[in-house]
Amino acid sequence: MSFATSTLTGSKLEQYEQLAAQARALLSGEPDRTANAANLSALVYHSLPDLNWVGFYFHDGKELVVGPFQGLPACVRIALGRGVCGTAASTRQTQRVADVEAFPGHIACDAASRSELVVPLVKGDTLIGVFDLDSPSVERFDEDDQRGLEAIARIFIESLA
Ligand code: SME
Repeated sequence: MSFATSTLTGSKLEQYEQLAAQARALLSGEPDRTANAANLSALVYHSLPDLNWVGFYFHDGKELVVGPFQGLPACVRIALGRGVCGTAASTRQTQRVADVEAFPGHIACDAASRSELVVPLVKGDTLIGVFDLDSPSVERFDEDDQRGLEAIARIFIESLA
């Protein structure tokens, strides 16, 4: 199988609809968490502009542990409640941070990161982990990005066995 990311076109909402369709096709029929997290990280990283890190942290029952991602090597373990990822996990609320330097306790894995979006991954009542995106630009993510990427996170959750 070969996969080419097709260029997203139209308005931002239309682009996120196209990205969601590509994500559904990519994960279709495959329930493996690692495989789907790896492919989704690659799809999103190569489809959207102005990102320096896209990936997953999984909850091991105690803390978050880095999973598949695209970007520079990252912090391996993050306690619940710590940093942007740990806050998204403990509150189960998406964290959209316009300027990471203004976020108390932000964990700088890649010094280039300036804004961040972290979507919690919850299946039923169970915390699976978080989907994390970093950008080298301040205020990279707006409400449309948040909605579009929350939809991508839902596609991932629904793919799991
Ligand atoms: N900045 C994150 C840590 C993970 S990296 O961005 C990959 C945080 O504060 O939780």
